[in-house]
Order: sequence, then structure tokens, then C-alpha cells
Amino acid sequence: MKIAIFGGTGDLGRGLAICFAAAGHEIIVGSRSQERADQAAEGLREALPDGNFVPMENVAAASAAELAIVSIPWEGIEQTIPPLADALAGKVLVTVANALKFGKSGAIAIQGDELPAGGQSCAHVIQDLAPEAKVVVAYNNLPAAALQARHHLGADVLVCGKSKEARDTVIALTNDLPGARGLDAGPLANALIIEGFTALVINMNKRYGGEASLVITGLENAPAAPTAAH
Ligand SMILES: NC(=O)c1ccc[n+]([C@@H]2O[C@H](COP(=O)([O-])OP(=O)(O)OC[C@H]3O[C@@H](n4cnc5c(N)ncnc54)[C@H](OP(=O)(O)O)[C@@H]3O)[C@@H](O)[C@H]2O)c1
Repeated sequence: MKIAIFGGTGDLGRGLAICFAAAGHEIIVGSRSQERADQAAEGLREALPDGNFVPMENVAAASAAELAIVSIPWEGIEQTIPPLADALAGKVLVTVANALKFGKSGAIAIQGDELPAGGQSCAHVIQDLAPEAKVVVAYNNLPAAALQARHHLGADVLVCGKSKEARDTVIALTNDLPGARGLDAGPLANALIIEGFTALVINMNKRYGGEASLVITGLENAPAAPTAAH
């Protein structure tokens, strides 16, 4: 599949790019700047010489993609998405963005009026700005460094979105990440829970070291749970 990653120059974007390219996908490395996209694609090719990485500015990337991933800080959403909306109509649009702030006591999930558009999840804001796209929230809780190193993640990925077909597409794609299992967690209305949970993951990493991930147990009819991270 042709996967565009807006912010494919960043930490999580490069991690997802390497893992999906290693699984045989064509990765369009999106950026606000062609130069930064070129540099990131070059670095990705050094890390994975067999990978198919095509650098583009975000707008061209949106047009070329079959599926796209928003991997930018939440503060950039309201400026970044509108010029991409037409090109994303009808396409699955995954968002990994989390609205977090960092205080002396640790990472905090932003709530209430401080959130974009007066209290919505990043996923909702993206859906409002790209109304014809099939927005799905996923990969919010995964560690960028482990993805970049292509470590076995041993992680569950919670997937929420309005369209079941879009959720199923992302769940299938998730199987291409090493040691990850996608789980259908229902409608986009719950996106804020997934996004906010990342603050807890960051705080646990800080307190105990390592790269925490989420694992759900007790699901009798789900695909087999991922084996532990290594
Ligand atoms: N890092 C992690 O471990 C991790 C894990 C899970 C989820 N996330 C989420 O993934 C998203 C990206 O995280 P990251 O750590 O990869 O961030 P990052 O490295 O700081 O930024 C990613 C890319 O976003 C673009 N960008 C930066 N500011 C922007 C703005 N104001 N408007 C539009 N684009 C902007 C930049 O690309 P260009 O300058 O090339 O356009 C940058 O390379 C965040 O929302 C974060 O919450 C991160």
C-alpha cells in the first residue's frame, strides 16, 4: 500500500516509516518542506536500504497516498489539515497525535477548554477539518525509538474510528508492525481516552525506565495476544 506520513521527518513518523517499509509498503515521507522530506528519506534509506521511501511535501503526499498518517504535534493540526482535506476525501486517515503538556510532575493529558476546538480530541478536530476522510485513531501509545529500531513491540494497538471498514484496514496494517496486534476499540468518540493514555505511558517510562506499551488480556475471540517485547 502507498502510505503517506505527514510529519514523516519526525520521531514517530520515521519509526512507522521504517516498520511499514520493511513490511513492503511504499512510504511517502511527508513534510512541510521538500528539503526536510528529502533528508529524512535519505536517512530512512540508510537505515533500511531495501525500503521504498518517496519524499514529498505534505499536499503532494496526500494526493499520492492510498492511506495517510498524521504524525505531527497537536498544535500543528489546525494549520496542516485544511490544505490536505480534498486530497484525503474517501481515504483512511490515521492520527497518532496526542494533546499533552509537560509539567514538573510529568506528562499531563490536556483536557477541557485547553484542547483544540474547545474540548475535542485531536482525532475529532482532524475529522472536522477533513470531513470526507475516514479518520481512525491508532499507534498513539507506541514508542518511537522501538519502532525506529524495529524492536519486537509486544504491544496492543487500540483502534477507534467511525467506519468499521476503516478500522479493519488499520487493524490489518498493524499486523505489519513487529509484535503488534490491532484491536477494534469502537467509535471515534473514544479517541480522547487513547490520546490521553499516552501521558501515563510517558510517566511510567520516566519512573521505571524502558518503553512501556499497552497489552490487553482476556479477549477469547481476538487474534492471539502479542508475545512480550524483546
Ligand atoms: N515520539 C513518540 O514516541 C510518540 C509516540 C506516540 C505518539 N506520538 C505522537 O506523534 C506525533 C508526532 O510526534 P513526534 O515525536 O514524531 O513529533 P516531532 O518529531 O516533534 O514532530 C514530527 C514532525 O511534525 C512536523 N511538525 C512539527 N511542528 C509542526 C507544526 N506546528 N505544524 C505542522 N507540522 C509540524 C515536523 O515535520 P516537518 O517540519 O518536516 O513538516 C516534525 O518533524 C505527536 O502528536 C505525538 O503526540 C509520539
